[in-house]
This record gives sequence, structure tokens and C-alpha cells, in this order.
Amino acid sequence: METYTYANSRKLFERAMKVIPAGVYGHLGPVEGSMVPPSAFPFFSSHAEGAHLWDVDGNRFIDYMCAYGPNILGYRDEDIDHAAREQAKLSDCVTLPSATMVEFAEQLVDTVDSADWAFFAKNGGDVTSFALMIARAATGRTKAVFVNKGYHGVAAWTKLPGNPGIAEADISNNLYVDWNNYQQLEELVSRHPGQIACFMASPYFQGNFVDNELPEAEYWSKVRALCTKHGIVLVIDDVRCGFRLDLAGSDHYYGFKADLICFCKALANGYNVSALCGIDALKSAASSVFYTGSYWFSAVPFAAGIATLKKLKEIDAPKRLYEIGKKLTEGLVDVARTHSFNLNISGELPMWYMRITDDESQIIHQEWIAACVQRGVFFTNHHNHFINAALTDEDILYTLNVADDAFKAVRKLHPQFV
Ligand SMILES: Cc1ncc(COP(=O)(O)O)c(C=O)c1O
Repeated sequence: METYTYANSRKLFERAMKVIPAGVYGHLGPVEGSMVPPSAFPFFSSHAEGAHLWDVDGNRFIDYMCAYGPNILGYRDEDIDHAAREQAKLSDCVTLPSATMVEFAEQLVDTVDSADWAFFAKNGGDVTSFALMIARAATGRTKAVFVNKGYHGVAAWTKLPGNPGIAEADISNNLYVDWNNYQQLEELVSRHPGQIACFMASPYFQGNFVDNELPEAEYWSKVRALCTKHGIVLVIDDVRCGFRLDLAGSDHYYGFKADLICFCKALANGYNVSALCGIDALKSAASSVFYTGSYWFSAVPFAAGIATLKKLKEIDAPKRLYEIGKKLTEGLVDVARTHSFNLNISGELPMWYMRITDDESQIIHQEWIAACVQRGVFFTNHHNHFINAALTDEDILYTLNVADDAFKAVRKLHPQFV
């Protein structure tokens, strides 16, 4: 198979470096660690449709990163774009909110099992921060418990000691436990009686650079009971997998009820809106916190969100994403095996994490991912991937052929590894 080159991406990146810090910053940037080696990856896209993106050199990729989550139905989905266009003809960012805001909140309350109300912002970090503030307002406590290596955004309170740009005071109320370790949580709660405002975690462990982990049996029911007993607000950060496992919320999927649940990425198929949903008992605390933003009442993303929820229900998206994820990951594992490599799949299949386990340095894994990218399948190295509903059987077949050719190329470099 021919491999891609990226001359236009590189030229654009040189221009970007002159006028933008880091050229491309954050999770889409080549220094973040998900694109190793950067030489194998394009840096800029020109357009996208369905399950595919095209870079500025005209290379086409089957995109398994899905904009890191927002693409759930396919890029430029006609039904969602139509709803957004129709709303744009009327209004978007105006002095008063539109009726779409109320309709969207009603739809979320009807759809999400634990939701009695919904509040809208723009990014996932807006609503995880809001959840923390509501928990503090409701309990009068300051401490918060998080899972080691969990991710909740980029606000100062989410950072680790020593990270540039934060003060010790920003994180002095944070406490940490390991994922799936109920006993540690119980001990922390007894060591800090009446001081913990909330426990915030994603519904399963979605760490980078490590295999993802599902909750052990009884984990969530025990955590739920502990939080209820001690008046601790249970916050589920469903920013990444919200609507990919269960339209009623990932807490519902795992058989428990959150007090607050954060949504963002897939909520409006790429239109920019996030939502915090919560229980009645926390509604007045939510009202008491002054929290807002210039674009938080934009009507176009609300219209897109309403259309997205409708379509996700119509096509039973979680079931479809699971089936596509199963077919793809089983195929990848088989292809790896034919080349005597072991590909480990972890996490939930609509958002699977994969790692070649034959080499602890992960260099072989990185080489295989790079070879796939250069052949038109956009994977990244140490982050979970995403399934979208626009992927076809033809896309899966294409991916498996690319994976096969990429394994051949890697095997040539490492004939000794068996
Ligand atoms: C689990 C989780 N929480 C919070 C966030 C922050 O969301 P945003 O980047 O939209 O602020 C992310 C983003 O990747 C996430 O995956």
C-alpha cells in the first residue's frame, strides 16, 4: 500500500508556530503524546463527512478519534445540520434565550434517568467545574475526591502538583483514590468526617497510556450507598462516553443513580454545547451559584442537540456503536494474531482502548499505529478511540486491510519478536 505524505500540513504548522502558542495546542496538538511519532500524522484537516476526514494534503482517513468524541452520528449529518441551519435562520446568540433551550432541557430530563433538571454551558470542563461548585454550595464542605489519573478538564482544580500555571491553593482540597478501590474511598471518608463535598469520577476508568478498566461488580452500588450515608454528592463525569453506552446515562448503564451528571462531547454531534443534569435536591444549590458565559445560550447548538437526541434514539445508537465496535476490535485482534502480535482491547467497545502487549516499551505499538495512519486509518497511540454510527462494513473491511498491511510493515522491522 502507498503511504501518505504531509507537505501542506507541515507548511501550515510552520505558519501556526509563528502566531499560535505550540502551533496546535492541547489534545489536538502533536506534542500531546497521542501522535507518536508526529512525522506519521497530518496536523490539519480540510473537510470531513460521515466517518471520514480529509487532511490539507488531500489524504482521506477513516477517523477513529471522532474529534475526540463529538462525532457520534457522522460528520455533517444531514438531519442535525438541517436542524441547526433552520435555527440559524431565526437566531443564535441573542439578548434572550430561545424556546429551544427549554425544549432541550425537557428532552434531557425525559431521556437521562437521573436528571430532574439540565443546565447548559459550552465545554465539558464548564460543567465539571460547575458540579464541584454545586456540591460545595449544597454541602457547605470544601474537599473533593477524585480518581488517580482521571481527567475532568483543564481548570486549575483538575491539575496535579507541579503543573505550570497553578497555585498550591488551587488543589489543596483535592483527595485521590485509585480506580475500583472502594476501601480507599471508605477510609478517606472516615478520615475526613463531614468535610467531603463530592466524589467525582467517570463511569469507568478511561486513562491514557494505560488499559481502560470497567467497574468491578458492586463497585458503584457500594460507592452510591457510601455517598448517600455521608451526604457526599456523587458526580459522574460522562463527558466522554455519555450517550455512547446508554442514552439514559452511563450511571443507568451500570445500574446506579448519580446526583449530578456531566455531558458534552456527543451531546449535539459536534455543535458546541455541554450540559449538567442533576437531581431535584440539588436544584436550589445550582440556582444559587452565579455561573454563565457569553455563548452559553446560543440557540443553534440547542437545536442541534434536540435533533441529535432524537436521532440517537431512532437508530438505537448505543446498540449500533457496540456492534460496530465489536466487529472492528475482533477483526483487529485476529489480524494481529495472524502476524503473531497480541492486541489487547480494554474499556467499553464504543470507546475502546487498544495496546500491543508484546513489547513493554510500546514502541512496536506506536510503529503499528503510525503505519495505519500513513495508510489512511486515523488511530492515535495512547488514548481511547471512538466509534461513530456512520461507519460502514466497507470502512471496517478497509480498516482491517490497512491494519494487516501495517502489521506486515512492523513485522519487517522486528522479525525477532514472536
Ligand atoms: C472525562 C472528561 N471530562 C472532562 C473533559 C473536559 O471536556 P472539555 O475538553 O470539553 O472541557 C473531558 C475531555 O476530554 C473528558 O474526557
